[in-house]
Amino acid sequence: MEESDDAGVYKLSDDLAIIQTVDFFTPIVDDAYMFGQIAAANALSDVYAMGGRPLTAMNVVCFPIKKMDIDVLRQILKGGIDKLREAETTLVGGHSVEDNELKYGLSITGIVHPDNVMTNTGGKIGDVLVLTKPLGTGIINTAIKGGLASEEAIAKVSAFMSALNKNASMAMQKVGVNACTDITGFGLLGHAREMIGANDIGMIINAKSVPLLPCVREYAEMGLVPGGTGRNKEFSQPWVENNPDTPPYLLDILYDPQTSGGLLILVPKQKVDNLLQELEKSQVKEAAVIGEVVAEPKGKIRIYY
Ligand code: CO
Ligand code: CO
Ligand code: CO
Repeated sequence: MEESDDAGVYKLSDDLAIIQTVDFFTPIVDDAYMFGQIAAANALSDVYAMGGRPLTAMNVVCFPIKKMDIDVLRQILKGGIDKLREAETTLVGGHSVEDNELKYGLSITGIVHPDNVMTNTGGKIGDVLVLTKPLGTGIINTAIKGGLASEEAIAKVSAFMSALNKNASMAMQKVGVNACTDITGFGLLGHAREMIGANDIGMIINAKSVPLLPCVREYAEMGLVPGGTGRNKEFSQPWVENNPDTPPYLLDILYDPQTSGGLLILVPKQKVDNLLQELEKSQVKEAAVIGEVVAEPKGKIRIYY
């Protein structure tokens, strides 16, 4: 917990540790089956970010049984189960309560060798930053809520949010990297800050290299930005040295809270081509190099534009 990873690791023996994590939230897309898949992919993500293998899952359900058709819940749970199957993870139970607002998520238990736990703080000067999914899910979800999102944007954001970080995790484990985290509620800059906070290192992010979901620029420019973006900005700004040329929409995207975002990996420079090849081979097509770890400014993220 001390390194702000949101999963917990518990060592059972010299060669076995468990990783435990729980995540649940209100629907972010209208399609119930898709929402179930996204919730499962999101819950599994912390295990993949730590280099673990998910084994078992428990459903967490809050459902307004008096005002919503039970078939909606069936569709959500089916989405969750299908995604777990893809992740070769077994659903072993769960808990449900009646609630005015629908919420769904899962608690996941995974395993990892104690020596191979990937944390977010192993970055070294010269490491290259690789991001494995495009940004903008918070902004697009806000556009969906406002009824303003295009079919294309909805399809793309759904596909990325429901995509497992499994292949990206296997690729980084094969290549051998220094640090990893998954991008979720604190946004790219918030999670990037956690990667340099504990060490005396700095980071450069090339704003133009950051992959973006379709339409996200347009929605951000329209002001369709979730409340979490502003909170993230307020929280992380002291550690961010922004280039004043960075357009405001792009800065919003860098702070945008993500649901089931990609992995942010710090890889030694001599291994980055190898990692990109492995990612490409395993269908992680939109992975991109977005920056690097530097000696100065210590503890800060400098944005280049
Ligand atoms: Co989490
Ligand atoms: Co995480
Ligand atoms: Co119970």
